[in-house]
Amino acid sequence: MRLDGAILPWPDVLWRAGLLNRVHEYAPVKTAVKRLVQRAARRFGYQMVPVGVWAKASRALALADAAPSLLFQVDPVFQSSYARGLAITGTPESGQVVCSKRQSRFYNLLSIHRWAGGVPGWQVECGCWKGLSSYLLNQQAKRLKPSHDGAGFMIVDSFEGLSQPTSEDRVQRGSDPALPGGEYAARAGTFHCPQDAVRKALSEFPAIEYHQGWIPEVLSSLPERTYSFVHIDLDLHDPIRGAVDYFFPRLEKGGVIVLDDYGSLTWPGALKGGDDAAAALGQPLTPLSTGQALLVRR
Ligand SMILES: C[S@@+](CC[C@H](N)C(=O)[O-])C[C@H]1O[C@@H](n2cnc3c(N)ncnc32)[C@H](O)[C@@H]1O
Repeated sequence: MRLDGAILPWPDVLWRAGLLNRVHEYAPVKTAVKRLVQRAARRFGYQMVPVGVWAKASRALALADAAPSLLFQVDPVFQSSYARGLAITGTPESGQVVCSKRQSRFYNLLSIHRWAGGVPGWQVECGCWKGLSSYLLNQQAKRLKPSHDGAGFMIVDSFEGLSQPTSEDRVQRGSDPALPGGEYAARAGTFHCPQDAVRKALSEFPAIEYHQGWIPEVLSSLPERTYSFVHIDLDLHDPIRGAVDYFFPRLEKGGVIVLDDYGSLTWPGALKGGDDAAAALGQPLTPLSTGQALLVRR
C-alpha cells in the first residue's frame, strides 16, 4: 500500500508554526482544535497519525522502495554476470540508486546486443574504462556461443581517461542537482585505466582487438570494416560526435549504435553530440528513459 502524501503528523506542524501557541495550554480547546484539524485533513484525503507512527511508516516505505520491483533486479543470469564483471574488472559499485540506474542501462545494453546478434559485422565498444561493459557483452556472446573468445569484438579507448572537455560539456548551474553548479562533471584523465589492466580483466576473451588513442583522431587508423553493434560510452561531446560520424556509415543494415550518456544531465555534451550527429546524418535518434539513445541503420 502506498501512503505517499497521505500521512500528516499530529498538528505539531501547527504548534511549531505558532498558530496554536495561545490555546495549547487548554486541553479541551486543544482536543477540539485537534478534531477540527483531523476532520479537515480527512476531507482533503489525509490521515493524521502520531509522529512516531509516521516515522516508522516512512522507514518502511523507504525499505519497500529499495526492494526489487523489476525483472533485471532478480534476473539470476544478469545479476551473477554483473557481480562477476564488477569483481573481475575491479569496477567500484555505486550507491543503491546509482547502481540500479547503471544496472538498468547495462540490462538494456545486453538486450540490444542480443537483438543485433543476427547482423553481420564487427562489434565495438568506444570507452571501456576498467572493462565492465565489454566483459558483460563478451560474456553474453559466450553464453550464446560457448566457443566465443572475443573474436570480432574491438575496444577503442585512450586508456588515459577522458579527453579535455570543451564548452559543450559545461554543466549548467542547477541542471544536475547532484552537481553544486560546477563547470564540468569531470576533468580530463578521469576514468583512466591502463590497457594492460583491461586486457588482464578480459583475459577470458584473448581475441578482443585493442585500439589505443584519442577519439576521434584514432578512428582514421582503424582497419576499414563494417559493424553490427557499436557501444559509445565516452561522456563528452567531441569524441561522441566523432564516433557516431565514423561508425554510422559503416553499420550493416539492422546494425545499431547505443549512446550511453545521451540523456544524462551530468554530461550535457553527450546530448548535443548525439543530436548534432543524428541531424547531420538525417537519422532519427531514439532516447531511452535510462539516458541511453539508439541509432539504427535501416
Ligand atoms: C565512463 S568511462 C566508460 C565506462 C565503461 N563503459 C564501463 O563499463 O564501465 C569513459 C571511457 O571513455 C574513454 N574516453 C573518454 N574520452 C575519450 C577520447 N576522446 N578518446 C578515447 N577514449 C576516451 C575513457 O578513457 C574511459 O575509459
